[in-house]
Amino acid sequence: AAGDLGQELGWEVYAVGGFVRDILLGRPNLDLDLVVEGDGILFARKFAEKLGGRVKAHTKFKTAVVILDDGRRVDVATARLEYYEYPAALPTVELSSIKMDLYRRDFTVNALALRINPGRFGQLVDFFGAERDIRNRTIRVLHSLSFVEDPTRILRAIRFERRFDFQIGGQTMRLIKNALNLELFSKLSGTRVMHELQWIMNEEDPLACLMRMEELGIMEAIHPLLKLSRDRVQVLTELVKVHNWYKLLYLEHEITPWKLYVLGMTMGIKRDQIQKITQRLHFTRREEREFLQLRDMIGDALMKLMGWREGRSKLSRLYSILHPIPVEGILFLMARSRKEHIRRNISQYLSRLRYLTIEVNGNDLEEMGIEPGPIYTRILSRLTDAMIDGRATTRKKQLKLAQ
Ligand code: CTP
Repeated sequence: AAGDLGQELGWEVYAVGGFVRDILLGRPNLDLDLVVEGDGILFARKFAEKLGGRVKAHTKFKTAVVILDDGRRVDVATARLEYYEYPAALPTVELSSIKMDLYRRDFTVNALALRINPGRFGQLVDFFGAERDIRNRTIRVLHSLSFVEDPTRILRAIRFERRFDFQIGGQTMRLIKNALNLELFSKLSGTRVMHELQWIMNEEDPLACLMRMEELGIMEAIHPLLKLSRDRVQVLTELVKVHNWYKLLYLEHEITPWKLYVLGMTMGIKRDQIQKITQRLHFTRREEREFLQLRDMIGDALMKLMGWREGRSKLSRLYSILHPIPVEGILFLMARSRKEHIRRNISQYLSRLRYLTIEVNGNDLEEMGIEPGPIYTRILSRLTDAMIDGRATTRKKQLKLAQ
């Protein structure tokens, strides 16, 4: 449809970037990026009219996002056609602007375009040897100033390398080391570092990326306290495992991976030092407060869990220890617990216990003639405990029994 529309408007339209790369790699990718040699915003509007959807336009950058009614997103960018007039009666030439557009990108593997206008549909446009690099499984920059222009690309290089099991090319690696020597990374703002770290933590294997960062001295370049010690690697290994386990449960409550992994990355840092990290990574006040709270809750729960014995301690006790803690913290506790029975019971809590609800509420108590007051909270929490420990069912007629 996009190709036909391009044809109607007389503009060449290309699919570009990760979408094309992933076609060649045979990997699924639903994020379509288009570049239009014409007016990208107008194109996006017509496209949304045709297929049904909304448009968010950024006039300053001449880009737009189309959100189709079925939820899919298409990003549209403009590659302006530039006309160069030669002096003295020579004809005006039209410079291929898709080439300029692709040249601004990070790596060859992301600088591929696919023509989609009818008649040329499916033709690959590869100015920089991307197809060869994909075949050789290499991450390579397009020019030597790439990392100077944007040091976050160092983290992107690592992310793509680990994700696809590629290798960063020799010259590209020299440029990375050069950029690190110039301390470009230490000067990078916390917001941008954190943004890239978050992408890394959404990867299948974040630890592989973190270890590569450590190998290149990037963790310390971000902050000396972040050096990836053996202890931290060990905990992060467990965190990846529990995180994968949790993903397989397909619960409606998804976690925020960075909250989990930053706990592992900062393990062992004393309370009075931790703010150096939250400030370096430019946490908002609220993020910082929540993160510090989470660490305190975990410390507290670790102590309490030491005294918890399967068979001897009540399940409702475990429930009351875990209940106030956000899921990221509970997964961290699971990863930290050496005792198999604790891990098993925490997993029980996450997959089942925490969803238990009692069907009795304040109205029921009032109907029974109990005077409203703080006693209500006590009765209801006793009932919850009783149910967790298997001493009561959830039905109202059991209320009397539990009382
Ligand atoms: N890009 C860049 N420099 C950056 C970030 C992005 O050159 N610092 C370019 C890349 O060429 C990329 C495109 O912008 O192809 C879109 O960025 P993004 O959506 O982050 O990249 P994808 O390749 O789609 O990555 P992912 O598969 O992780 O979504």
